[in-house]
Amino acid sequence: MKIALGADHGGFELKEAIKKHLIDKGDEVVDFGTHSTDSIDYALIAKEVGEYVVKENILGVLCCGTGIGISIAANKVNGVRAACCSDYFSAKLTRAHNNANLLCMGGRVVGAGLALELVDVFLATEFEGGRHQRRIDQITAIEQEQK
Ligand code: RB5
Repeated sequence: MKIALGADHGGFELKEAIKKHLIDKGDEVVDFGTHSTDSIDYALIAKEVGEYVVKENILGVLCCGTGIGISIAANKVNGVRAACCSDYFSAKLTRAHNNANLLCMGGRVVGAGLALELVDVFLATEFEGGRHQRRIDQITAIEQEQK
């Protein structure tokens, strides 16, 4: 599985733990940075990763301090459905019901142990379609109207 990763300085260490975990599992990781704890603005990373995830039709993971700023920014990219999660149920259901393509987490909110569990369930869960597809179509329609 190919997975896109990105983080600002607040999510750098968590992103590195996720990267190691995915590589150890045999996944292919495309790392958009950041590559240090030097301060960097999360919107720039969110845009790059969001565009890539939509273009390649893959899943990705974004981390900042809270997971919130980077998810707000990523959701401005057409086709992105980014969900900021810090619990197992939400990380699973955002794939099953929202067909989320980006999982966002806060490096200052969740520990690496929990974060890796959230990543695993997010990547393993399939979108259920059915009535949920109608709701995704409504979200896409809003996106089109805003263009
Ligand atoms: C950076 O200090 C911090 O604001 C950022 O990582 C994130 O938490 C924003 O939502």
